[in-house]
Amino acid sequence: MSDALYDTIADNLVARGYSLINPIAEWPVLSGLATRIQSMDDSSFHLAGIGRDSEQQQQTTIRNEQIRWLSPAQPVEHAYLTAMEVMRVELNRRLFMGLFDFECHYAHYKPGNFYRRHLDAFKGKTNRILSVVTYLNETWRVGDGGELVMYEKRQKSPLLSIYPEWGTSIIFLSERFPHEVRPAKRDRYSIAGWFRVNTSVGDVIDPPR
Ligand code: OGA
Ligand code: MN
Repeated sequence: MSDALYDTIADNLVARGYSLINPIAEWPVLSGLATRIQSMDDSSFHLAGIGRDSEQQQQTTIRNEQIRWLSPAQPVEHAYLTAMEVMRVELNRRLFMGLFDFECHYAHYKPGNFYRRHLDAFKGKTNRILSVVTYLNETWRVGDGGELVMYEKRQKSPLLSIYPEWGTSIIFLSERFPHEVRPAKRDRYSIAGWFRVNTSVGDVIDPPR
């Protein structure tokens, strides 16, 4: 992807804390990912949880989508992870954010699934700095629901509401914007990911997930 893309993302992040991009990766990569996620059956996914490690628990009143982590061993997933690695380096170069690595999962929201208002990171408690969500749904229509609604902290009225449309990505500061996924009326496919800073202690590199 071009320098201009990373310039735009960096400028947007400085100006308002988020950036809307289309497309974030080469189109064959996005369509490869879309084909893959739509062809995988339920057994390839697991119910998303909240928190990490021992805190990990499933709370279906808060979120109930199915997820699957991407693997660098799979070619098209590798291509997406590589695109994010390039972005990591380019954003560090422009913003000195100290982004250390990236993790991401597919998400499949079945009709009626949702993710209630939440933050991806709590100040001081986590290493997630920058969230990236990429949408893989063709011909999403008004009335299909499934909007991502973003807020400023402590605000009730939305800052932004976007449909999970094909090729769109939103990149935002993880600690700054509470957000929610409204229930959709049809299957909703996306990839949610996070750039992290390194919070390793001693020789233990980052807590496992
Ligand atoms: C998440 C999330 C937003 C979306 O997975 O943490 O907020 O639009 N996803 O899928
Ligand atoms: Mn989130």
